Amino acid sequence: MSETLREVFGEAAVAARVAELGREVSAHYAGAGEVVMVGVLKGALPFMADLLRALSFCPVLDFVRLASYGAGTSPGELRFPMDLETDIAGRHVLVVEDIVDTGRSLAYLLDRLAKRNPASLKVCALLDKAYRREVDVAVDFVGFAAPPVFLVGYGMDVGERLRRLRGVYELVR
Ligand code: IMP
Ligand code: MG
Repeated sequence: MSETLREVFGEAAVAARVAELGREVSAHYAGAGEVVMVGVLKGALPFMADLLRALSFCPVLDFVRLASYGAGTSPGELRFPMDLETDIAGRHVLVVEDIVDTGRSLAYLLDRLAKRNPASLKVCALLDKAYRREVDVAVDFVGFAAPPVFLVGYGMDVGERLRRLRGVYELVR
């Protein structure tokens, strides 16, 4: 199988936008008290690490893992194999995602988190394919509007590969 990568958002553009997001998120939570940053494993890992270091406050970090059955580029049924350790009741929660596509995985997660009565529940995603939404979920902080192609890099994978790339690329087959 032959594959080519076409740069969509290069390393410098991603770094600059993440720095801006850090300022936006910091301004939003100024004086708000404790914030729990919830990374959605595995794809959000590089984005969360960079966003964390672009913040002017120190959030509590925790993680969930959402996965769909099957590998590759088409989503299957959802699983929630790893839950938070932190009690989020009365705390501000910021979910950090790599990319929101149909919105199904985020809606599933937000529904579960909302039942635990956080003080607020917001979402920061590096990439948003808003036109692909199948369920209505709001992304409060968006890095980039993403084009209608399969993206890899900066945490995003195809069959566990290419997550380590510092920019975002279209996978062309
Ligand atoms: P959704 O449930 O359709 O919104 O899909 C969300 C999840 O699917 C994301 O958090 C990613 O892990 C994965 N995903 C969606 N689009 C892409 C893509 O273009 N490249 C890599 N992963 C993607
Ligand atoms: Mg994800």
